[in-house]
Amino acid sequence: MPVKNDSAIIQKSIYNVEKIRKDFPILQTFVHGKPLVYLDNAATTQKPRFVIDRINHYYEKINANIHRGVHALSQEATEEFESARIIIKNFINALGKNEIIFTRGTTESINLVASTFGKINVHEGDEIIISHMEHHSNIVPWQMLCKEKNAVLKVIPVNDSGELITEEFVKLISPRTKFISVVYASNSLGTVNPVKTIIDIAHQNGIPVLIDAAQAINHIPIDVQELDCDFLAFSGHKIYGPTGIGILYGKINHLEAMPPYMGGGDMISKVTFEETTYNELPHKFEAGTPDIAGAIGLGAAIEYVKKIGLDNIAAHENELLMTATESISDLKGLRIIGTSKNKIGVLSFHLENIHPHDVGTFLDFEGVAIRTGHHCTQPLMKRFGVPATSRASFGLYNTKEEVSILVNGLKKILEVFG
Ligand code: ALA
Repeated sequence: MPVKNDSAIIQKSIYNVEKIRKDFPILQTFVHGKPLVYLDNAATTQKPRFVIDRINHYYEKINANIHRGVHALSQEATEEFESARIIIKNFINALGKNEIIFTRGTTESINLVASTFGKINVHEGDEIIISHMEHHSNIVPWQMLCKEKNAVLKVIPVNDSGELITEEFVKLISPRTKFISVVYASNSLGTVNPVKTIIDIAHQNGIPVLIDAAQAINHIPIDVQELDCDFLAFSGHKIYGPTGIGILYGKINHLEAMPPYMGGGDMISKVTFEETTYNELPHKFEAGTPDIAGAIGLGAAIEYVKKIGLDNIAAHENELLMTATESISDLKGLRIIGTSKNKIGVLSFHLENIHPHDVGTFLDFEGVAIRTGHHCTQPLMKRFGVPATSRASFGLYNTKEEVSILVNGLKKILEVFG
């Protein structure tokens, strides 16, 4: 059962969810004749008018390529793109803007580190540690690297509540451990991991750490200097920004030492047929024309979220999570998967003898959007003995009324299928 967050009570009076909902045009949509109840925020969040307008502004008024032109439009586009980088730098409190690399998303950010940092630092017989609750995007790149280098992938186990077993993590560390990559908050369970403890232990042993913050970035205030992580990855679309844009944060000394990921325009300083010298950071890792509108949109999304306040958002979502958890706990045959005390607004469950896809389809006809499946965490599903779960995930615009619609939908399913 998640723990009641005191700030939920303090902030309730100033959190105006009805006003917030008006910022999101898509929330007016009807699905199968019913008002949309969007509870698939862990998959992707909806976009406020503020973000949509900024993207439109780029395409309607200043569309041009960046870092290349002396003409006015190019300069304006470059300015907006680089301003977004600074917004992001400030949001996670990076030391400098050169530590912020634009990527296509969390997946590309992790692949970038595995393919560059991993390439030069991991050798035959070395070890990499991940956890049992990783998304496939934080498993497969390391598995590919281990295969290429003949290195070993080790996995931190989770307990029955879906929490990392920290004592087992410590036992996995050896003189051959070269890298640790763990998720901050699980997309399938909602568990918030003790990443600061993991980073501190890793650093005592001289091991760098990457934090997958895909699901944490819109729920938990992150200060990369305080966390002291070596790398951090997240995606724009999980924080009310566009798809196809994401961030890799890296400590400057690591980024300086890493070889480039992709070759092409903008990442070079000088090219001859004999040799190429690379551009300075962050451009060394940004080959080709980037998603300019996406970056500007992400900057806008972060401004929007900051205005509401991450603490307020977290308190609101925690209240929804607690209400939903309490309401479904005594439904017959329902098992909650992921019962950690410290969770983001993710509620995964399994209904005995009813396939999650049937649950998802039934709820869809009630206007309720949830995700069903393995959530790109197949090893974790195996650990809990289920092929898939149904997952409701809450965002800053969800309401208690929507939680009731979900719960009533589940009751109907039990009547029909039970
Ligand atoms: N990783 C996203 C999810 O959990 C897509 O649904």
